[in-house]
This record gives sequence, structure tokens and C-alpha cells, in this order.
Amino acid sequence: MQQAIAILDSGVGGLTVVKEVMRQLPQEKIIYFGDTARTPYGPRPYDEVQLFTRQIVDYLIQFDPKMLVIACNTATAVALNDIRARVNIPVIGVIHPGARAAIKETRHQVVGVIGTEGTIKSEAYQKALAEISPTVQVHSQACPLLVPLVERGQFDGDETGRIVQESLEPLMGRGLDCLILGCTHYPFLAPLISEVMGPDVTIISSADETARDISAILNFHNQLAQANEIPIHQFFCSGEPQMFKRIAQLWLDEQINVSPVVWQVPHYF
Ligand code: DGL
Repeated sequence: MQQAIAILDSGVGGLTVVKEVMRQLPQEKIIYFGDTARTPYGPRPYDEVQLFTRQIVDYLIQFDPKMLVIACNTATAVALNDIRARVNIPVIGVIHPGARAAIKETRHQVVGVIGTEGTIKSEAYQKALAEISPTVQVHSQACPLLVPLVERGQFDGDETGRIVQESLEPLMGRGLDCLILGCTHYPFLAPLISEVMGPDVTIISSADETARDISAILNFHNQLAQANEIPIHQFFCSGEPQMFKRIAQLWLDEQINVSPVVWQVPHYF
């Protein structure tokens, strides 16, 4: 049986990475876990996000994946090293790929980052950007109201437009030429974000670069799936599956099956 790429997030956000993986690596099988019962992760203490990430990884490891993708910036910021130390397959996050994409795009070395409170407080993007280009100027802003909109499937309309506008207000007039969507949920709102930021600001999602990294790593390990294999993906979520399925089918533009997972562990709501 084909070994899968396991991809996780606190909810539907990681589907933005899934979509790119399906586009760039259509022969690869994906097993996805969205922790919709406990989303959002952004406001949670770091040790709780680490614990939740471990629990999801323990669940996904049962399927014997060949690689693990933490398609959640908040979990990448606080749990990537911990997970790398716990499993013996390649593990990547989304922060380094996002930072690299921004450095490729920026013309004036002035980059904005929006993300959850957890991601912004961790300064993981500042560090990742400075490692690649020490002269880059970074302006960060937490946007805690955006993830709940996406989890409700509210991608447009007046209320969403107003919340996006107000969330981005602090970044106006800072001379940004790039804005990193430092939360995998935000590409769902990209048209609105782009409209608010204007035509001079390039919107960067880490999905594209993350899919490239996956391809490079699997190629290096000689583990790319054969082109003649037709993958059957599996989707799991910890909350009620209806909304997850609706959003996933809309975003991925295909019919999928979603299996609800009942945690055997405390939920820590
Ligand atoms: N999509 C996630 C991220 O990239 C998590 C958002 C959340 O649960 O707060 O950070």
C-alpha cells in the first residue's frame, strides 16, 4: 500500500497546503487531520499547543506515513523541534518555507507578517527571515479574529470585510512590499486581504514553497510515489465533520470523505 504524507492543522487551515500538494504532487496520498474540536490554537499557551500537536502526531503515526507536515504556523512555532525529536520520519513546518518565499519576493526588504497571537509572540518569522536575510525589516501583526471566520466558512461579506480591514490597519503606511500570510487559514481570505493591502503588496502564502520542500525531501529519500498510482486521500477531524467537509470540498474542488475522530484524551477546552 502507498505510504502517505501526513498533514495536520488545528482545523481547515492546513487544507491550503493540501491543495498545493495535490497540485504539485498529484500522485501522492494524503492523510489529513484537522483538530476542529479544539481550534483555535492561536490564543492557547504553548505547552497546550505542544501537547495537542503530539496527540495528533501519535494518531497519524498509526498510518505509517513517510513524512509529516505541520501545516499550522502556531504548532510549527512551538512544537516543530519537539515533534522532530519524537518521530523518525522527515518532519517539516510552514514557517521556513513562508519566510523563504517572502525573501524571494521582497524588493525593498520590508516584509509584513500576520498570524495568530501564538505565532506572532514567538517571533518565529522574525528569526526565520533574519536567518535568510539579516537586513530585512519585519512588521508583525496578530489577527486573532480571522481564524474563527474561516472555521465558520465566512470568507466574504460585509462583516468579514470589516474585520479584515480592521485587523490589517496597524500595518498600513509601513512601506511593506510583501505580506506573509503567517497562518494557514488566511489564504481563504486572500482576495480580501489583497484588496485591503493594495496592488503594491505581494501576498505570500507558504503553501507553494511547503509543497516544493515536500517534493525535494521525498525525492532525496527516493520516496516519491509512482505516477501510475491513484491516491485515495483520508481526512479526519476531531469536531463535527459537516462544516469541515463543506469547506474542504469547496476549497479543494473535489468530493472527499471525512471521518470524525473521538479523542481518547482530555480536550482541555
Ligand atoms: N492554521 C493555524 C496556523 O497556521 C492555526 C490557527 C489557529 O488555530 O489559531 O497558525
